Amino acid sequence: MGFPTTRLRRLRRNETFRRMVRETLVYRDDLVMPLFVRPGSGVKRAISSMPGNYQFSPDTLVEEARSVEAAGVPAVLLFGIPDSKDAVGSRAYAADAVVCRAVEGIKKACPSLCVITDVCLCEYTDHGHCGVVTENRDGARDVDNDATLDLLVKEALAHARAGADMVAPSDMMDGRVGAIRAALDNADMPEVPIMAYSAKYASAFYGPFRDAAESPPQFGDRASYQMDPPNAREALREIALDIEEGADIVMVKPALPYLDIVRRAADRFDAPIAAYHVSGEFAAIKAAAANGWLDERRAALEILTAIRRAGAKLILTYWAKDAATWLE
Ligand code: PBG
Repeated sequence: MGFPTTRLRRLRRNETFRRMVRETLVYRDDLVMPLFVRPGSGVKRAISSMPGNYQFSPDTLVEEARSVEAAGVPAVLLFGIPDSKDAVGSRAYAADAVVCRAVEGIKKACPSLCVITDVCLCEYTDHGHCGVVTENRDGARDVDNDATLDLLVKEALAHARAGADMVAPSDMMDGRVGAIRAALDNADMPEVPIMAYSAKYASAFYGPFRDAAESPPQFGDRASYQMDPPNAREALREIALDIEEGADIVMVKPALPYLDIVRRAADRFDAPIAAYHVSGEFAAIKAAAANGWLDERRAALEILTAIRRAGAKLILTYWAKDAATWLE
C-alpha cells in the first residue's frame, strides 16, 4: 500500500505523535562521565582541546563528582596523570597512586556513584605506550604482551582495593581480561565487574585525550596492539574472547566511525554493550559549535541517540553531565 493511502508524515505532524512513535530514547542512566585526576590540591586545569573538561586534583575532583551525580549521571570513569613516569609505569599500581586517592575520596563523598577506573599504562610510562616495551621478532621496539599483563593486574587490583566499583582495561593486550578476572577472584574480590575496551581501534580521534592525559606515545604508534580500523570481523572475535575471559560489559571505541561494529556486536552478543564517544569526536563538534556552524546541544543529543540506536546501552561521553541536564 503506497501513497496516497500511506503517508508517513501523518505521525510526524506534531510532537505528541512523534513522542508516541519514537523508537530510541537516551536515558541519564546510560551515561558515563570520564574525568581526569592529577596529584595536588585545589587544581582545576582546563584542557584546551576539550572545552569544559579539566584535570582535577583529588579534592576538586570530589566536588566535580558530586555535581555529576547531582545531574543524574550514574557513573564516572577515572584517568590518572601521575607526578612522575618511568619505563614500567610504577605510578599506575603504587598503593598511593593518584587514581586510588581519587576513588577513595569519591566513594566517601558519593557512595552510590559508580566509580569505574581506566586500567592502562600509557599515562604512567615515560615512552607513552600501554605496556612494557621490548624488542620484537622484527627487531622493532614494541609492547611485550605477557610482561604487560602482570602490571595491568597489579593496577586493577590497586584500583579495586581502593574501592573502585568496576575496572576497565583499555590497553588491548591479549588475555588481559582473563588475567584481571582471575586476580580479582583470587584476591577475594569476585564481585568487581570488568568493563573491557574490547574493540578499541588505533584511531586518530584520541588526539585531544592524549593532551588531557599527557599520554602520547613518544615513538611509533599503537597499531601493534589497538585494532586496525578496516576490520569488523576481528572486532567480533575480540568481543567474543573478552566475554569468554569474563568481561561483564564489552566496549566499542570510538563510537561514531564504528557504529557498524556496535550494531553487529549488539546483534551477536547478549552482554551489555558500551560505546566510547571519544575526545576527538567531542572536540570536533565543540570546535564547530564554537564557530557557530552547528548547535552543540542538538548535535550532541542526535549523536547520543544514534549510538543508542546502533545498539549500545552505555555511552562514555564528555557530554554526560551536560546531556543529563538536557535530558531532564
Ligand atoms: C588509554 C586510553 C585512551 C583513551 C581511553 N583510554 C587513549 C589511547 O588509547 O591512546 C582515549 C579516550 C578518548 O580519546 O576520549 N589507553
